[in-house]
Amino acid sequence: MRECILAVETAHAATPDRELARAVERLSDLYTTGRGALVREQAEASHLAAKREYFLASDAPKVALVLEECAARSGAFARLAESDTVRVTDLGAGVGATSVGFIAWLAEARAARGIALPMRVELHAVELGEPAAHAYEASVKAAAGAAGVQVAIRIEARDFRRVAPAGTDLILCQTAINELLTGPEHERETAQLVHTWARSAPMVVIEPALKTTTRALMALRDTLLALGGAHVVAPCLHQRACPMRAREGDWCHEARRIEPTPRVAAIDRIVGRRDERALYAFLATAPGQGPASAPASPGHAADIAAELPAGVPSNLVRLVTDTLGSRGKTERLVCRADGELHLMRLLDREVRDGNRAFLDDERGSVRAIEPMPANDRITPDTSVR
Ligand SMILES: C[S@@+](CC[C@H](N)C(=O)[O-])C[C@H]1O[C@@H](n2cnc3c(N)ncnc32)[C@H](O)[C@@H]1O
Repeated sequence: MRECILAVETAHAATPDRELARAVERLSDLYTTGRGALVREQAEASHLAAKREYFLASDAPKVALVLEECAARSGAFARLAESDTVRVTDLGAGVGATSVGFIAWLAEARAARGIALPMRVELHAVELGEPAAHAYEASVKAAAGAAGVQVAIRIEARDFRRVAPAGTDLILCQTAINELLTGPEHERETAQLVHTWARSAPMVVIEPALKTTTRALMALRDTLLALGGAHVVAPCLHQRACPMRAREGDWCHEARRIEPTPRVAAIDRIVGRRDERALYAFLATAPGQGPASAPASPGHAADIAAELPAGVPSNLVRLVTDTLGSRGKTERLVCRADGELHLMRLLDREVRDGNRAFLDDERGSVRAIEPMPANDRITPDTSVR
């Protein structure tokens, strides 16, 4: 994966570091607090430079991480790495971070499965901005060259709301949906649009990890499930209503450590950015009825296991917060395979090698807890794998 991203970084490197750092700071501010201005300034040269030369290197690995998790959970995603031709639709493709992430994942996934390259990827990118579309082509060609993948690129300068993806094996859309979710009426329209995508092919939507954008994605997930015709592959371990929506202060996102590229590290030093974790929220779905969810249970592992469909281990949880440390103990919210949210805890004096993952693992990790404690307390005898 890293070679692909480094190849794209080299292909795009043009802006002096200090100038790029200023552009990165401006765009970061807009991403977090000035999202209205973001849409208006979309095509500014400095923003495009920041996207091409900085944000691409941190956004591409997010796609690869999501796809690897989906391929481990769903045949529909695993097959993408196994066929010799894959057709991918990238909606709101920008400067190419998402397609680069796909190519990087594909090369790595095939190598891990012992499948020889070459293979062919047919990319259909839909992008309204012309300068971004130019950069898209350069990004994808550099990544494909480094990965040894053949690509055929079709870029359509259209509003993706007018495109009905057909004959595609995968739909990707990274940080473009939130620009549409700007009020109840738009939320309904967006849900209908995304529902059409979700029913036509495996789909991955990635959004910024901000509270507002993530909670909108969580609501969209529940609406899609209610509409039917598709199921959730990840991040959730269940098809029930999202339990994190109940409390306004909760939002389900990932925080993954990604080794920064040399250029990104240099810019981070200038802007004084320290957190190297990639933060993002995502939703992956596949068409059709998924595995049934476990019914809500009183919390006893044996009871859950008795009602779970085959193949869904009852003791799986997703760590949906960072560690919440307090005197003598660490707590974390976990979202369980039965769709229940639990605040689990581990006392400092009861930390052992077998349960230390509860403290160390990244937000978003999926772990098996054995045996599942009825009182949510992890003990020295509990294994967290
Ligand atoms: C924040 S950028 C993200 C780009 C890319 N997906 C990535 O992850 O790097 C959002 C992109 O979506 C494009 N976009 C937003 N709304 C769109 C629409 N309705 N149709 C086509 N493109 C759109 C914008 O032009 C912009 O390039």
